[in-house]
Amino acid sequence: MNQPKRVEHQMTDKGYVPVYTTDVVDQPWDSYTPEDHAVWATLFERQRQILVGRASDEFLHQQQAMGMTPDQIPRFTDLNPVLKQATGWELIGVEGLLPELTFFEHLANRRFPVTWWIRKREQLDYLAEPDLFHDLFGHVPLLMNPVFADYMAAYGRGGVKAHAIGPEALVNLTRLYWYTVEFGLIRQPDGLRIYGSGIVSSKGESIHCLESASPNRIGFDLERIMRTRYRIDSFQKTYFVIDSYEQLMDATLPDFTPIYERLAAQESFPAGSVQGTDTVFQRGTGEGWPEGADA
Ligand code: PHE
Ligand code: CO
Repeated sequence: MNQPKRVEHQMTDKGYVPVYTTDVVDQPWDSYTPEDHAVWATLFERQRQILVGRASDEFLHQQQAMGMTPDQIPRFTDLNPVLKQATGWELIGVEGLLPELTFFEHLANRRFPVTWWIRKREQLDYLAEPDLFHDLFGHVPLLMNPVFADYMAAYGRGGVKAHAIGPEALVNLTRLYWYTVEFGLIRQPDGLRIYGSGIVSSKGESIHCLESASPNRIGFDLERIMRTRYRIDSFQKTYFVIDSYEQLMDATLPDFTPIYERLAAQESFPAGSVQGTDTVFQRGTGEGWPEGADA
């Protein structure tokens, strides 16, 4: 079992990407080549350097506490006892992106699906689908944090519910995931830091999201986020900033059912827009923003 088994293509939050079998697989660790381990080492060392002073202290600390190192691709079976002990989560191996409902059900049960295969060296800077580096390096460290761990499980339960309500609810909920779990910033005493997995696993966006004058940086606002479209083909035009993981958890505790109903009657916002009600940390210059429709 070396090649992921793609079963179909599906429009997702990352554009059209292959969706794989729903099978949970044992991480075929012995099948990793020396080159796979070397790609991991290159990416790991590069990002750890870039992320000092850029990623949230919690992310940096927890990644180390888990025992992830550049030495070799970690074995899920080595990380799982540590993670399980900390927050009750476990990693499961998957071939790649899962159908939405399957994904939500795993999260609700504190199982985080990690793509077992790693990108090729030609794809160090970008690939369209999540791979081992994005999933493991990017998503897993914060699952060690009790509050964030609870948020992710609650999100899974919320996903199952939104899936039953209908596609519009799912769009709203997916935007929340996008602007927090994937592309979120957090305000630390010493300034803005990254916690979003899509950012921490990307060299270019790790620098861009904090240092570029072009994007908006706006205070977290649940319904505002759920109305906001996003970019799948470029760096984000807008980043939303939380004050703490508790803020995220507290804001998402209420039942979303009435929120979905309210939002169904409202227009969505373009990815790069600034609204009158926003807490604006930085109004983006919009320099270099791509034309064309937001997702
Ligand atoms: N409280 C949300 C609901 O009722 C579920 C949820 C929790 C969604 C956390 C996202 C994050 O649907
Ligand atoms: Co991701």
